[in-house]
Amino acid sequence: MRVCSNRFIVAACALAAGVACVACSDGAPNPGAGAVIDDPDPLITSGTRAALDELRYDSQPPPADPSNRLADDDRARAFGHRLFFEAALSGRLLERDNDGSAGTLGRAGEAGRVSCSGCHVPAAGFVDNRSPHHQISLAALWARRRTPTLLEIASAPLFNSDGRRDSIWAQAVGVMEAKGELNSGRLFVAEQIFRLHRGEYESLFGAMPPLDDAKAFPQLAPLQAGCDEGPDNSAACRGKPGDKSDYDGMTPAAQAAATTVTVNAAKAIAAYVSQLRCGSSRFEQWLGGDQQALSRTEQRGASLFVGKAGCSGCHSGANLSDGKFHNVGLRPATVAVAFTDTDDHGAAAGLALLLEDPLNSKGAFSDGDRGVLPVALGPELEGAFRTPSLRCLKNQPSFMHTAQLATLDEVVDFFDRGGDPAGFPGQNELKSLDLNERERADLVAFLQALQGAGPDPALVAAPAD
Ligand code: HEC
Ligand code: HEC
Repeated sequence: MRVCSNRFIVAACALAAGVACVACSDGAPNPGAGAVIDDPDPLITSGTRAALDELRYDSQPPPADPSNRLADDDRARAFGHRLFFEAALSGRLLERDNDGSAGTLGRAGEAGRVSCSGCHVPAAGFVDNRSPHHQISLAALWARRRTPTLLEIASAPLFNSDGRRDSIWAQAVGVMEAKGELNSGRLFVAEQIFRLHRGEYESLFGAMPPLDDAKAFPQLAPLQAGCDEGPDNSAACRGKPGDKSDYDGMTPAAQAAATTVTVNAAKAIAAYVSQLRCGSSRFEQWLGGDQQALSRTEQRGASLFVGKAGCSGCHSGANLSDGKFHNVGLRPATVAVAFTDTDDHGAAAGLALLLEDPLNSKGAFSDGDRGVLPVALGPELEGAFRTPSLRCLKNQPSFMHTAQLATLDEVVDFFDRGGDPAGFPGQNELKSLDLNERERADLVAFLQALQGAGPDPALVAAPAD
């Protein structure tokens, strides 16, 4: 017997005592004679239809990335694929919750355990279904935010929920140097590329600097890279700007050389990541004329999405994201290890850091300006976070950047009540929607219909040795 996933249908079936409920919401609901189900015909006016057409999946390649001259290079993609799975670029695990059990990447004190694929788990749609509690990620430390999917990410104008980075490669360098993520640094990463991947690197980027020359480049062993367990104080970190030791003591030429190697490796990773797509869904089949491709509840959900519920005001375009930042009145809640991030100013803080970042796409290490840096930072960015794409949500174990909502039902309830009072700083843009239970279930059904086939399986698998 099949299990109905739709809360409303299940509830209605349960009410119809003695009636066998054989059909689920993905077929024509057939609760049996006598059951009263609020199952109105979907109302798709020409206006609704035009609004839905705006959401059609775009299978064209993502926009060109002028900041990365290798963004579309096949050999860079292959090298990036290898590096995405490479744990040897990481420093020590610091958090003691890393006890070697399933769900952790190793034991506190061990180095070389964290790769991009450790949090963006390829088989799970590049989200984290590994970390204990399935909320925020546990790498070197507990991350502040939930690991988002990388599917379709190359179409985002700015990256991270607060817009802190304006290219995928700069994001990769940021993660390598973050104490809570890879807990590494650009000097150690460059030395490891030299030690482990020199041939592949040089075939793409030309001769490497002499990263084994200890006079120019202080040599770091894996257990010496990154930060120690002390408070977040860069003096206790090694191999990145501001370390007041190995990196800061190098000549400007050596600093630039090490940074260039790490940035080039990150550009190869970005070339790989840019290929990760969700693919078109049953929604596109339905737009293409296959009436059976969406059930009645999904069709009603589609209509609500662009109509009464107003979701497409922010979740617009082919990825159901306007790429902009909005304050939706999220009230931070405790997730995973009693962690509540109450002082997150969102894009107001993230974009200010981006503008000063030497690795932004206007900086010296970029191959060209992506043209997405904000000109001015207004008060509306306080507590505002980027509208996420809503494609391929199926494997996502939790929602919102804080991971505090566990199901799509909870997310829809959240938008229905117009967010919560006293959330993150700033002004909540939402109003309550007054949806009934059936309408909320319809919206959840529609969100679940946006599942594509995912990337080419060769991109999901670990690279061949
Ligand atoms: C600790 C687990 C973790 C690891 C390891 C990790 N990431 Fe992430 N990644 C995150 C989190 C958390 C965010 C979201 C931060 C936010 O929302 O501000 C993120 C965001 C991103 C984004 C932006 C996504 C978006 O929606 O804007 C990209 C791109 C990315 N990571 C790529 C990488 C790459 C490449 C690597 C390897 C170098 C990597 N990540 C390693 C946790 C991780
Ligand atoms: C004012 C703009 C806005 C409107 C309107 C809006 N959203 Fe969102 N939505 C956002 C933002 C911003 C986030 C991310 C919030 C965060 O993580 O802090 C979000 C998050 C989500 C998520 C979680 C995705 C994830 O990966 O965690 C879902 C699902 C979602 N919205 C669905 C909807 C639905 C359904 C509607 C209509 C009922 C809607 N949204 C209306 C801006 C909006």
